[in-house]
Amino acid sequence: MSEAVRIIEQLDQYQQKGLEELARLPDEAALQAWKVAFLGRSSQVMQVFSSLPTLAKEDRPAVGQHANLVKQALESAYAGRSQVLKDLSLQQALEKDRLDVTLPGREPAAGRLHPDTQTLRDITRIFGEMGFQVYRSPEVETDEYNFSLLNFPPDHPARDEYNSFYTTTPGVVLRTHTSPGQIHAMRAYAPKPVRVILPGMCYRYDQVSVRHDLQFDQVELLAVGHGITLSNLRGTLDNFARRMFGQTVTTRFRPSYFPFTEPSAELDIECFICGGKGCLVCKNSGWLEILGCGMVHPNVLENGGYDPHEFSGFAAGMGIQRVAMLRYGIEDIRYFWGNDIRFLEQF
Ligand code: DAH
Repeated sequence: MSEAVRIIEQLDQYQQKGLEELARLPDEAALQAWKVAFLGRSSQVMQVFSSLPTLAKEDRPAVGQHANLVKQALESAYAGRSQVLKDLSLQQALEKDRLDVTLPGREPAAGRLHPDTQTLRDITRIFGEMGFQVYRSPEVETDEYNFSLLNFPPDHPARDEYNSFYTTTPGVVLRTHTSPGQIHAMRAYAPKPVRVILPGMCYRYDQVSVRHDLQFDQVELLAVGHGITLSNLRGTLDNFARRMFGQTVTTRFRPSYFPFTEPSAELDIECFICGGKGCLVCKNSGWLEILGCGMVHPNVLENGGYDPHEFSGFAAGMGIQRVAMLRYGIEDIRYFWGNDIRFLEQF
């Protein structure tokens, strides 16, 4: 067998092997490896080209031509396979990312209002509809506003119940309740009638427990004008309680003491957990305390700039977290600022 015939036969085997392997290639990476092996610089067909000068002169045209044919055949098969693999991977990608437009949509994760904010907004809306405007007063107060102008005599034991956080400036405290806002509002409006609510954060150096935290929100209610009576207070609070807790709620006024109101009372609502029979939540009393209130003390009216012989007024103060706890059945006040997403997502 001549040298030329032998080379041509080897080239044919080489072509066949190349085509067979090509047909089995699974992906682009394997395809590139194949290209290096079968058409690269040191592949068999390329070596045939470089060895042509060493062949007998009469053999060169036939071997050269055949090597060209083999090379072309492999190149065109390569192009075909490359296209097939591209189509395949596109198809797989489409299959994977397939969008079924008939599926129900996915709800985007939206933020929500903190239960405290929701409750405050409801309180604001309910009193707003009764003609009360929101009035903002400072969180840092003087002892004078937080106590003295509210008719707490100096060194009176009632001050101790309010466990103040004192600042390093003498006579300056973090407000322990929103009641000092009453003085700010009266001084801003007197001698015109005033009807405001004063929401805001309060601070007390209390033992932290399920019902007490170092900071909490209150809403203060204040109405001053001509001929305002206790029954106006009662009617306003009853209206509020029904709209906040439901039309069937039962309320009661219980006499109490606050230095800045006279007479003073606390408003209870019948326990809606047990319907008044007595349970753990109402500590077997059948009633839940929701706020303190009363007729503005004449001294306080005077400190606010009103003549107590001409004007009268009522006031009330409630803890927003307490209201929210009753409303949503939250057992521990510490959840409010715990930032636990599982708690917050329930509202
Ligand atoms: N300031 C009182 C407190 O923090 C609540 C309060 C009671 C406010 C009676 C009032 C009121 O306006 O009339 O406990």
